Amino acid sequence: MAVSSAPGKVYLFGEHAVVYGEPAVPCAIERRATVEVSARSDGRLRVDAGDLTLDGFTVEYGGDGAPDVDVPQSLVQAATGYVDGAVAQARDAADSPDVGFDVAIESAIPLGAGLGSSAAVAVAGIDAATRELGIELSTEELAKRAYRVEREVQSGEASRADTFCSAMGGAVRVEGDDCRRLDAPNLPFVIGYDGGAGDTGELVAGVRALREEYDFAADTVEAIGDLVRRGERALDEGDIAELGRLMDVNHGLLSALGVSSRSLDAMVWAAREAGAHGAKLTGAGGGGCIVALDESEASRTALGYTPGCVESFRAELDFEGVRREDG
Ligand code: MEV
Repeated sequence: MAVSSAPGKVYLFGEHAVVYGEPAVPCAIERRATVEVSARSDGRLRVDAGDLTLDGFTVEYGGDGAPDVDVPQSLVQAATGYVDGAVAQARDAADSPDVGFDVAIESAIPLGAGLGSSAAVAVAGIDAATRELGIELSTEELAKRAYRVEREVQSGEASRADTFCSAMGGAVRVEGDDCRRLDAPNLPFVIGYDGGAGDTGELVAGVRALREEYDFAADTVEAIGDLVRRGERALDEGDIAELGRLMDVNHGLLSALGVSSRSLDAMVWAAREAGAHGAKLTGAGGGGCIVALDESEASRTALGYTPGCVESFRAELDFEGVRREDG
């Protein structure tokens, strides 16, 4: 048996635009997905995701049709797509195409909510499954293989940002294939969660369609890239007020690309009006989470009274990426 964990993340800046080669700065947070893997000789795959969402589920399947379970199919597809992909990567890395696995996932990262649950499951899953087969992959190789899984599940449209950040930990900068760690202070992140989820593949496809149809949408994507470059300077200087201002602008630009929602906007405004330095949606959007910068408790308190917000919490930057949990 091998057990690995990997952190979720928030985007300080740059989601969506990063898919088109603009830079982005995601930051790993101390909320992890943990994946336990045992090899089995009958080639079958059993996935126990009891703690993956509010309504847990267990599925058993062997590649011979869709699993038969009593939860929304989109949720099952989202979870099993990443687990299947991670298993395929491990089989490939270990040159063991026929090995089966028992996989148990526990995650403190809500699914599809912009906190990088899928990347964390893919990274931790590949690490645990390859170690179970006696192979040690470097962190860079893990990030690469997890990226392939995301790209496949997102129909060919994914950046390396989520998977690199989850594998490496800390604050990172991703621009195309160029991925690196950044020096960053421990930023005062506050997260608001609306209990919902967005379909990343659909949201990415929506931005692509808008960008192809309207020059202003292509310009908006480029403007996000310019903003990220300004944000990197502010991060380097530890200028929290400027980071907050730029987060506000980034949220406006993401709204213009059609990926915000009423509840995300409501949470962003609640945090801003409570005195946060800035606030924006994080991840693909459509529903899920916002991230605000606030050292005080005011944003959390305000989010607690905001209709549509089901949970708010403080998130520390997690300087550790993928981690062995089996001693
Ligand atoms: C999703 O967490 C982030 C997006 O930029 C997609 C990607 O980078 O693959 C929307």
